[in-house]
Amino acid sequence: MIVLENQVLDTLFNHRSIRNYQDKKLTNHQISQLLQAAQQASTSQFEQQFSVISVTDPAKLQVIADVTTYDLVKNAGHYFLFVADQHRNSQILKHIDSNVDTTNLHSTDKLLASIHDVDLALQSMLTAAESMGLGGVIMGSIYNDVDKIIDTFKLPELTFPVLGLALGYPDENPEIKPRITSEIIHYENEYNDQIDYNELTNYDNQVHAYYANRKHSAREESFTHHLMHDLKQSPVRKGILPALKRQGFLKF
Ligand SMILES: Cc1cc2nc3c(=O)[nH]c(=O)nc-3n(C[C@H](O)[C@H](O)[C@H](O)COP(=O)(O)O)c2cc1C
Repeated sequence: MIVLENQVLDTLFNHRSIRNYQDKKLTNHQISQLLQAAQQASTSQFEQQFSVISVTDPAKLQVIADVTTYDLVKNAGHYFLFVADQHRNSQILKHIDSNVDTTNLHSTDKLLASIHDVDLALQSMLTAAESMGLGGVIMGSIYNDVDKIIDTFKLPELTFPVLGLALGYPDENPEIKPRITSEIIHYENEYNDQIDYNELTNYDNQVHAYYANRKHSAREESFTHHLMHDLKQSPVRKGILPALKRQGFLKF
């Protein structure tokens, strides 16, 4: 546990994903506070281009568990599906003027804006949850079968599932995963292509020690080994681009 000068930094610096939860649901009050935190995040052009689906139906949680291969979904205190959403604004605009041309909402620009909105809202929610003594994990593994997610949650044109977020009362206390030294990722005024491989080796050793010493599923692993392993993983999920186009995005 790192002790810091204020509670926000304390929460941020002590982040780690939590994948095991006590058998205890979040209250409506907690859920509404979490949504408020998510909604107060910055939002591209003040257009609030995201939606959040609370997944409470056990059959739908099972679909997510099957798609993601994570059973933890069913044990979480609450599960949120975050959706990039230009559909709602399209509806609102058509309500105001039934002849309005909403072509612009199909652009790459608007897709990126809605994904930015999701990511910022979701991270705010996760940090808020952690500040409340909860823990959680972001889940990109919904992309294993994005069509199934779109169908299950009846996602209309101009929406796209971006990430899941499982939250709950922690039933584990994992170590904090070390991050790469900021010298490697922070540059001044221009991109620095010269990687300090000595620093990288130090970081690899840190990650190796983290995996070797951690209480749950200790293993032989380093950052560079992980990168190489991930690169060679196959098959890469291929359904994402066609699904984005089917949902009406990336028209130009
Ligand atoms: C976009 C995104 C998708 C992720 N998807 C998954 C996932 O599907 N399953 C999972 O267990 N963790 C997932 N994670 C969590 C990362 O594995 C985790 O943040 C990373 O290993 C660092 O560990 P930490 O969060 O404990 O510091 C995801 C994180 C992000 C940002």
